[in-house]
Amino acid sequence: MAAFPKRLHRVARHDAQVIATSVRWLFTSREHHNYTYELTRLSREHLAWFVSITCAVPVATVRGYFAEIDGDAALRGHITATTAASARSGLADKQVRYARRIGWYAIVRAKRPAHVVETGVDKGLGTCVLAAALLRNTAEGAPGRVSSLDINPEAGYLARASPWRDVVDLVIGDSIASIGALDRKVDIFLHDSNHSAGHERREFQAAEAKLSPGGLLLSDNVTMTNVLAEHAERTGRRFLAYRETPAGHWFPGDGIGLAW
Ligand SMILES: C[S@@+](CC[C@H](N)C(=O)[O-])C[C@H]1O[C@@H](n2cnc3c(N)ncnc32)[C@H](O)[C@@H]1O
Repeated sequence: MAAFPKRLHRVARHDAQVIATSVRWLFTSREHHNYTYELTRLSREHLAWFVSITCAVPVATVRGYFAEIDGDAALRGHITATTAASARSGLADKQVRYARRIGWYAIVRAKRPAHVVETGVDKGLGTCVLAAALLRNTAEGAPGRVSSLDINPEAGYLARASPWRDVVDLVIGDSIASIGALDRKVDIFLHDSNHSAGHERREFQAAEAKLSPGGLLLSDNVTMTNVLAEHAERTGRRFLAYRETPAGHWFPGDGIGLAW
Protein backbone atom coordinates (compact mmCIF):
# COMPACT_ATOMS: atom_id res chain seq x y z
CA MET A 1 0.00 0.00 0.00
CA ALA A 2 2.91 2.34 0.78
CA ALA A 3 4.02 2.15 -2.86
CA PHE A 4 0.51 2.82 -4.24
CA PRO A 5 0.69 6.66 -4.50
CA LYS A 6 4.02 6.48 -6.34
CA ARG A 7 2.68 3.78 -8.69
CA LEU A 8 -0.50 5.78 -9.33
CA HIS A 9 1.53 8.92 -10.09
CA ARG A 10 3.72 7.06 -12.59
CA VAL A 11 0.86 5.44 -14.55
CA ALA A 12 -1.28 8.61 -14.43
CA ARG A 13 1.59 10.69 -15.85
CA HIS A 14 2.01 8.18 -18.70
CA ASP A 15 -1.74 8.00 -19.43
CA ALA A 16 -2.07 11.81 -19.33
CA GLN A 17 0.61 12.07 -22.03
CA VAL A 18 -1.24 9.52 -24.22
CA ILE A 19 -4.52 11.41 -23.76
CA ALA A 20 -2.88 14.77 -24.58
CA THR A 21 -1.34 13.31 -27.77
CA SER A 22 -4.66 11.69 -28.72
CA VAL A 23 -6.67 14.91 -28.22
CA ARG A 24 -4.12 16.91 -30.25
CA TRP A 25 -4.37 14.32 -33.05
CA LEU A 26 -8.20 14.34 -32.99
CA PHE A 27 -8.24 18.08 -33.69
CA THR A 28 -5.18 18.47 -35.97
CA SER A 29 -5.19 15.34 -38.17
CA ARG A 30 -7.74 14.27 -40.79
CA GLU A 31 -6.52 10.70 -41.20
CA HIS A 32 -8.89 7.84 -40.37
CA HIS A 33 -6.66 4.87 -41.24
CA ASN A 34 -3.17 4.07 -42.55
CA TYR A 35 -1.82 6.86 -40.29
CA THR A 36 1.33 8.76 -41.19
CA TYR A 37 3.94 10.14 -38.79
CA GLU A 38 7.67 10.66 -38.39
CA LEU A 39 9.76 8.12 -36.51
CA THR A 40 11.51 9.10 -33.29
CA ARG A 41 15.23 9.73 -33.76
CA LEU A 42 16.08 6.51 -31.92
CA SER A 43 13.57 4.44 -33.93
CA ARG A 44 15.04 5.80 -37.16
CA GLU A 45 18.52 4.83 -36.02
CA HIS A 46 17.33 1.31 -35.16
CA LEU A 47 15.77 1.08 -38.62
CA ALA A 48 19.10 2.05 -40.20
CA TRP A 49 20.79 -0.82 -38.34
CA PHE A 50 17.95 -3.22 -39.26
CA VAL A 51 18.46 -2.48 -42.97
CA SER A 52 22.24 -2.58 -42.60
CA ILE A 53 22.18 -6.09 -41.10
CA THR A 54 19.49 -7.62 -43.31
CA CYS A 55 20.82 -6.15 -46.57
CA ALA A 56 24.54 -6.40 -45.72
CA VAL A 57 25.38 -2.74 -46.37
CA PRO A 58 27.22 -0.30 -44.07
CA VAL A 59 24.91 1.59 -41.71
CA ALA A 60 26.35 4.90 -42.98
CA THR A 61 25.16 3.96 -46.48
CA VAL A 62 21.64 3.35 -45.12
CA ARG A 63 21.66 6.73 -43.36
CA GLY A 64 22.61 8.21 -46.75
CA TYR A 65 19.56 6.54 -48.33
CA PHE A 66 17.33 7.99 -45.60
CA ALA A 67 18.78 11.46 -46.33
CA GLU A 68 18.05 10.92 -50.04
CA ILE A 69 14.32 10.23 -49.57
CA ASP A 70 14.04 12.97 -46.93
CA GLY A 71 15.56 15.44 -49.37
CA ASP A 72 13.50 14.40 -52.43
CA ALA A 73 11.69 17.73 -52.84
CA ALA A 74 10.07 16.72 -56.14
CA LEU A 75 8.34 13.74 -54.51
CA ARG A 76 7.24 15.75 -51.47
CA GLY A 77 5.88 18.52 -53.70
CA HIS A 78 4.01 16.01 -55.86
CA ILE A 79 2.42 14.27 -52.84
CA THR A 80 1.40 17.59 -51.26
CA ALA A 81 -0.14 18.96 -54.47
CA THR A 82 -1.87 15.72 -55.50
CA THR A 83 -3.28 15.15 -52.02
CA ALA A 84 -4.67 18.71 -51.90
CA ALA A 85 -6.36 18.24 -55.31
CA SER A 86 -7.73 14.75 -54.66
CA ALA A 87 -11.35 13.88 -53.87
CA ARG A 88 -10.07 12.30 -50.64
CA SER A 89 -8.20 15.44 -49.47
CA GLY A 90 -10.60 15.76 -46.53
CA LEU A 91 -9.29 12.45 -45.20
CA ALA A 92 -5.56 13.15 -45.66
CA ASP A 93 -3.03 15.39 -43.88
CA LYS A 94 -1.00 18.05 -45.71
CA GLN A 95 2.34 17.01 -44.21
CA VAL A 96 4.29 14.29 -46.04
CA ARG A 97 5.47 11.70 -43.50
CA TYR A 98 6.90 8.36 -44.62
CA ALA A 99 7.44 6.56 -41.25
CA ARG A 100 8.86 3.01 -41.79
CA ARG A 101 8.59 3.43 -45.59
CA ILE A 102 12.06 5.05 -45.48
CA GLY A 103 13.19 1.51 -44.60
CA TRP A 104 11.49 0.17 -47.75
CA TYR A 105 13.30 2.90 -49.71
CA ALA A 106 16.69 1.97 -48.25
CA ILE A 107 16.12 -1.78 -48.85
CA VAL A 108 15.34 -1.15 -52.53
CA ARG A 109 18.37 1.15 -52.88
CA ALA A 110 20.62 -1.42 -51.20
CA LYS A 111 19.40 -4.49 -53.12
CA ARG A 112 18.78 -2.88 -56.56
CA PRO A 113 15.92 -5.26 -57.48
CA ALA A 114 14.65 -5.61 -61.05
CA HIS A 115 11.11 -6.36 -59.82
CA VAL A 116 9.41 -5.34 -56.56
CA VAL A 117 5.85 -6.41 -55.68
CA GLU A 118 3.79 -4.45 -53.15
CA THR A 119 0.37 -5.78 -52.13
CA GLY A 120 -1.93 -3.06 -50.77
CA VAL A 121 -1.54 0.40 -52.26
CA ASP A 122 -4.13 2.70 -50.61
CA LYS A 123 -3.29 6.27 -51.73
CA GLY A 124 0.05 5.13 -53.17
CA LEU A 125 2.41 6.66 -50.61
CA GLY A 126 4.49 3.49 -50.30
CA THR A 127 4.32 2.95 -54.06
CA CYS A 128 5.80 6.43 -54.63
CA VAL A 129 8.58 5.79 -52.11
CA LEU A 130 9.42 2.47 -53.79
CA ALA A 131 9.26 4.14 -57.23
CA ALA A 132 11.60 6.94 -56.08
CA ALA A 133 14.18 4.31 -55.02
CA LEU A 134 13.79 2.44 -58.33
CA LEU A 135 14.22 5.68 -60.31
CA ARG A 136 17.49 6.40 -58.44
CA ASN A 137 18.66 2.84 -59.11
CA THR A 138 17.73 3.23 -62.79
CA ALA A 139 19.73 6.47 -63.03
CA GLU A 140 22.70 4.53 -61.59
CA GLY A 141 22.37 1.77 -64.21
CA ALA A 142 20.22 -0.75 -62.26
CA PRO A 143 16.68 -0.44 -63.69
CA GLY A 144 13.70 -1.90 -61.86
CA ARG A 145 9.90 -1.73 -61.67
CA VAL A 146 7.27 -2.17 -58.96
CA SER A 147 4.01 -4.09 -59.44
CA SER A 148 1.54 -2.60 -56.94
CA LEU A 149 -1.56 -4.72 -56.33
CA ASP A 150 -4.83 -3.50 -54.79
CA ILE A 151 -8.43 -4.66 -54.82
CA ASN A 152 -9.77 -1.07 -54.83
CA PRO A 153 -9.91 0.52 -58.33
CA GLU A 154 -9.40 3.97 -56.78
CA ALA A 155 -6.15 2.99 -55.06
CA GLY A 156 -2.84 4.50 -56.08
CA TYR A 157 -3.83 8.02 -57.11
CA LEU A 158 -0.47 9.35 -55.87
CA ALA A 159 1.41 6.95 -58.15
CA ARG A 160 -0.22 7.95 -61.44
CA ALA A 161 2.11 10.87 -62.29
CA SER A 162 5.48 10.97 -64.05
CA PRO A 163 8.25 10.18 -63.36
CA TRP A 164 7.06 7.77 -60.63
CA ARG A 165 4.42 6.07 -62.79
CA ASP A 166 7.14 5.29 -65.37
CA VAL A 167 8.34 2.46 -63.10
CA VAL A 168 4.95 1.47 -61.56
CA ASP A 169 2.50 -1.19 -62.79
CA LEU A 170 -0.78 -0.75 -60.89
CA VAL A 171 -2.81 -3.97 -60.90
CA ILE A 172 -6.42 -3.95 -59.65
CA GLY A 173 -7.84 -7.20 -58.24
CA ASP A 174 -7.48 -9.58 -55.33
CA SER A 175 -3.79 -9.88 -54.47
CA ILE A 176 -3.71 -13.70 -54.47
CA ALA A 177 -4.99 -13.85 -58.06
CA SER A 178 -2.73 -10.96 -59.11
CA ILE A 179 0.37 -12.63 -57.63
CA GLY A 180 -0.52 -15.83 -59.50
CA ALA A 181 -0.76 -13.86 -62.76
CA LEU A 182 2.69 -12.20 -62.42
CA ASP A 183 4.77 -13.04 -65.49
CA ARG A 184 8.18 -12.02 -64.10
CA LYS A 185 10.29 -13.21 -61.19
CA VAL A 186 10.08 -11.14 -57.99
CA ASP A 187 13.19 -9.89 -56.17
CA ILE A 188 11.41 -8.13 -53.28
CA PHE A 189 7.88 -9.00 -52.14
CA LEU A 190 6.09 -6.74 -49.63
CA HIS A 191 2.82 -7.75 -47.95
CA ASP A 192 0.70 -4.71 -46.97
CA SER A 193 -2.88 -5.58 -48.04
CA ASN A 194 -5.54 -7.51 -46.09
CA HIS A 195 -3.82 -7.93 -42.73
CA SER A 196 -5.66 -11.06 -41.59
CA ALA A 197 -3.19 -13.85 -40.79
CA GLY A 198 -4.89 -16.15 -43.33
CA HIS A 199 -4.55 -13.69 -46.20
CA GLU A 200 -0.97 -12.82 -45.27
CA ARG A 201 -0.10 -16.55 -45.21
CA ARG A 202 -1.75 -17.14 -48.61
CA GLU A 203 0.17 -14.21 -50.12
CA PHE A 204 3.55 -15.56 -49.00
CA GLN A 205 2.62 -19.03 -50.30
CA ALA A 206 1.60 -17.55 -53.67
CA ALA A 207 4.71 -15.32 -53.79
CA GLU A 208 7.03 -18.26 -53.14
CA ALA A 209 6.51 -19.66 -56.66
CA LYS A 210 7.44 -16.27 -58.17
CA LEU A 211 10.51 -15.40 -56.09
CA SER A 212 13.91 -15.20 -57.74
CA PRO A 213 16.80 -16.96 -55.97
CA GLY A 214 17.78 -14.86 -52.93
CA GLY A 215 14.55 -12.86 -53.14
CA LEU A 216 13.41 -10.97 -50.02
CA LEU A 217 10.02 -11.29 -48.31
CA LEU A 218 8.78 -8.28 -46.32
CA SER A 219 5.70 -7.92 -44.13
CA ASP A 220 4.02 -4.75 -42.91
CA ASN A 221 2.01 -6.91 -40.52
CA VAL A 222 4.85 -8.11 -38.32
CA THR A 223 3.63 -6.43 -35.12
CA MET A 224 0.29 -8.27 -35.47
CA THR A 225 1.12 -11.82 -36.65
CA ASN A 226 3.98 -14.30 -36.67
CA VAL A 227 3.14 -15.43 -40.22
CA LEU A 228 6.37 -14.32 -41.92
CA ALA A 229 8.59 -15.76 -39.15
CA GLU A 230 6.80 -19.12 -39.50
CA HIS A 231 7.12 -18.98 -43.28
CA ALA A 232 10.84 -18.20 -42.93
CA GLU A 233 11.37 -21.17 -40.61
CA ARG A 234 9.46 -23.51 -42.95
CA THR A 235 11.48 -22.39 -45.97
CA GLY A 236 14.90 -22.28 -44.29
CA ARG A 237 15.32 -18.50 -44.26
CA ARG A 238 16.53 -16.06 -41.63
CA PHE A 239 14.04 -13.61 -40.13
CA LEU A 240 14.21 -10.30 -38.28
CA ALA A 241 11.55 -7.83 -37.16
CA TYR A 242 11.79 -4.06 -36.65
CA ARG A 243 9.09 -2.32 -34.59
CA GLU A 244 8.78 1.41 -35.34
CA THR A 245 8.09 4.11 -32.73
CA PRO A 246 6.02 7.03 -34.06
CA ALA A 247 6.99 10.52 -32.84
CA GLY A 248 4.12 12.51 -31.30
CA HIS A 249 1.34 10.11 -32.32
CA TRP A 250 -1.00 7.95 -30.24
CA PHE A 251 -0.69 5.03 -32.69
CA PRO A 252 1.79 2.47 -31.30
CA GLY A 253 3.32 1.94 -34.75
CA ASP A 254 3.74 -0.87 -37.25
CA GLY A 255 6.98 -2.48 -38.33
CA ILE A 256 8.93 -4.32 -40.98
CA GLY A 257 9.36 -8.09 -40.96
CA LEU A 258 12.04 -9.36 -43.28
CA ALA A 259 12.83 -12.94 -44.32
CA TRP A 260 15.99 -13.60 -46.34
C1 LIG B 1 -2.68 -0.57 -45.38
S1 LIG B 1 -3.30 -0.20 -46.97
C2 LIG B 1 -1.84 -0.20 -47.97
C3 LIG B 1 -0.89 0.88 -47.59
C4 LIG B 1 0.19 1.21 -48.58
N1 LIG B 1 1.07 0.08 -48.87
C5 LIG B 1 1.01 2.38 -48.09
O1 LIG B 1 2.24 2.32 -48.13
O2 LIG B 1 0.42 3.40 -47.67
C6 LIG B 1 -4.13 -1.69 -47.38
C7 LIG B 1 -4.67 -1.77 -48.80
O3 LIG B 1 -4.91 -3.14 -49.08
C8 LIG B 1 -5.98 -3.24 -49.98
N2 LIG B 1 -6.53 -4.61 -49.92
C9 LIG B 1 -7.31 -5.16 -48.97
N3 LIG B 1 -7.60 -6.44 -49.28
C10 LIG B 1 -6.98 -6.72 -50.45
C11 LIG B 1 -6.88 -7.87 -51.28
N4 LIG B 1 -7.50 -9.01 -50.97
N5 LIG B 1 -6.15 -7.78 -52.41
C12 LIG B 1 -5.52 -6.63 -52.74
N6 LIG B 1 -5.57 -5.50 -51.99
C13 LIG B 1 -6.29 -5.54 -50.86
C14 LIG B 1 -6.96 -2.14 -49.52
O4 LIG B 1 -7.79 -1.76 -50.59
C15 LIG B 1 -5.98 -1.05 -49.05
O5 LIG B 1 -5.81 -0.08 -50.07
